[in-house]
Amino acid sequence: MDLIHDIPALRARLAREDSIGFVPTMGNLHDGHIALARLVRAHATCVVVSIFVNRLQFGPNEDFDRYPRTLADDCARCEAAGVDVVFAPDETVMYPAPQTTTVDLPDIQHILEGQVRPGHFRGVATVVLKLLNMVQPHLAVFGKKDYQQCRVLANMVKQFDVPVELLLMDTVRADDGLALSSRNRYLSAAERKEAPALFATLNEARRRLLAGERELAVIERDSVFALTSRGWKPDYVAIRRQSDLREPAPGDRELVILAAARLGSTRLIDNLEVKV
Ligand code: PAJ
Repeated sequence: MDLIHDIPALRARLAREDSIGFVPTMGNLHDGHIALARLVRAHATCVVVSIFVNRLQFGPNEDFDRYPRTLADDCARCEAAGVDVVFAPDETVMYPAPQTTTVDLPDIQHILEGQVRPGHFRGVATVVLKLLNMVQPHLAVFGKKDYQQCRVLANMVKQFDVPVELLLMDTVRADDGLALSSRNRYLSAAERKEAPALFATLNEARRRLLAGERELAVIERDSVFALTSRGWKPDYVAIRRQSDLREPAPGDRELVILAAARLGSTRLIDNLEVKV
């Protein structure tokens, strides 16, 4: 496996590859990331994982500085998963000058995660477009754990005619249901025990939808209340349609329940698709 830090070396390494699969990450790799790499492994002859903690997508009061950076461990995990290239640019490679040209996104950037984290998706879309231009993969994979990110990026790739095929991967969870996330390591032991309540709340909302309840606002409110009464600070629990994360119209059947909530000082997100 090759560890590459700059763009000329990356281009030279990938020049003769005819099927490149790409997994963009911010590192601190867990089994969810590795599942993405294995999915790509099955579809491409050369698997590239990028590791870059992207300042542009963090708000001023977010965890950019304390975001876990574990490059040596990440490389070992990639090697074991059959990854061919780890691309780990530093900030001078990614942003040699202030990134004044950014991707201008449609309104989906302002709802849900975007409402709580202004500018987040502009930062995500801009770095992903740069990474796609650097790696020029045939295929790239993103995890549905970040459901809105998948929607934003799929739309960008389509509207910018980026020549890449996107794969979306189901959320990988711990045995107790907690979605794997680099941020789980911020949880205390007691918080880690409580954390599966987020997924349990989504499942309860799903159960009610499948039982025929259609007062979405009531289900959302009850879900927020359930979390609050357990000591969480929810940002939102929202039932939306899968296609564009707008509020469902009466005939919409493909829904997704999305939630974000703070447990202590750790902000967790999760979601669950429902076909009613
Ligand atoms: P990061 O949070 O490191 O996640 C990298 C990829 O792994 C994303 O596509 C994410 O959705 C996926 N992922 C994370 N946890 C997962 C899980 N439990 N199951 C399935 N997939 C999971 O998302 C980012 O980085 C950044 O925003 C990035 C796209 C790299 C741009 O900076």
